[in-house]
Amino acid sequence: MSKITYKNQIKYLESLRIAPDSLIKEIENFAKVNNIPILDWQAAEFLEQLIIMLKPKRVLEIGTAIAYSSIRIARRLKKKAILDTIEKSRDNVVIAREFIQKAGLEHKINLIEGNALDILPSLTKKYDLIFLDSDKQDYEKLFYYSLVLLKKRGVIFIDNLLWHGFVASKKVPDSYKNSTKVIREFNKIFSNHSSLYTTILPIGDGIGLGVKL
Ligand SMILES: C[S@@+](CC[C@H](N)C(=O)[O-])C[C@H]1O[C@@H](n2cnc3c(N)ncnc32)[C@H](O)[C@@H]1O
Repeated sequence: MSKITYKNQIKYLESLRIAPDSLIKEIENFAKVNNIPILDWQAAEFLEQLIIMLKPKRVLEIGTAIAYSSIRIARRLKKKAILDTIEKSRDNVVIAREFIQKAGLEHKINLIEGNALDILPSLTKKYDLIFLDSDKQDYEKLFYYSLVLLKKRGVIFIDNLLWHGFVASKKVPDSYKNSTKVIREFNKIFSNHSSLYTTILPIGDGIGLGVKL
């Protein structure tokens, strides 16, 4: 649930939401019950729209979790397009594989188990779209690695840049102070990067969108 937009606006937008199919509902419920962070539904719809518009041939996702966003991306890819997705948690990889199989998308989703900090420097093929959704303290390094792997005119999509609203707030709970500092610092780097044209959008938990110039 977004803490960026006003509650009444979220309620209104939710009233307009077209009900997702049973698998998407099942994954959303699984994530809720098991406290696994996944992309907000509106941010997921926005990401799907980008996939439809841009028709990327190669997509990289950093942070698969249980493959909620992976499945939503892969379903929108063109026939020959593929998604590489990286996840470091063994437990999440096992669940992600089950959901990917249930979705019948094993042929479109290449799930790579491991730490993206180790894997990204070894990748050589470039991507049309990169979705960064890892631990926030890894964002800066993974962002720089991603820029190397992003094609010219390619798009980088980064979640949580408004961080529950805390980045714009004077009152930050102690448990969020460090992560808020990390995201604030990252947002400066992202917004000022000379090889990108960027925007931070108040969708979900704040989406950073950058186009490589
Ligand atoms: C917010 S969740 C991803 C949610 C997913 N993108 C979705 O929307 O359905 C973040 C995931 O990234 C994984 N992760 C965090 N840092 C990572 C890293 N450096 N390399 C690989 N996976 C990472 C975590 O284990 C966690 O499962």
